[in-house]
Amino acid sequence: MPGYQRRGIGSRLARTGITMLQGASCPFVVVLGHAEYYPRFGFIPASTHGLLSQWEGAP
Ligand SMILES: CC(C)(COP(=O)(O)OP(=O)(O)OC[C@H]1O[C@@H](n2cnc3c(N)ncnc32)[C@H](O)[C@@H]1OP(=O)(O)O)[C@@H](O)C(=O)NCCC(=O)NCCS
Repeated sequence: MPGYQRRGIGSRLARTGITMLQGASCPFVVVLGHAEYYPRFGFIPASTHGLLSQWEGAP
């Protein structure tokens, strides 16, 4: 909801989720999201690894 954006909630959710997945020994994480937002968490374009989206409009 717009009134709750830009308060750090999304960053905490992302970092907590990544930490949980690392703790579960997941070898990699894929996210479908804003290309401008997720690099701050270490994400890089999936196409770098040959992964392409099946959804129209999502690169
Ligand atoms: C995108 C979203 C998850 C970010 O969560 P948030 O709680 O607003 O983000 P945070 O408060 O943790 O972080 C704010 C930072 O993210 C940046 N940011 C927020 N939305 C962004 C976007 N769409 N593109 C690029 N940067 C964005 C802000 O500019 C801010 O940058 P700064 O730290 O340099 O000032 C959230 O705004 C959201 O759910 N938006 C609506 C639904 C949506 O677009 N979802 C996409 C899911 S992939």
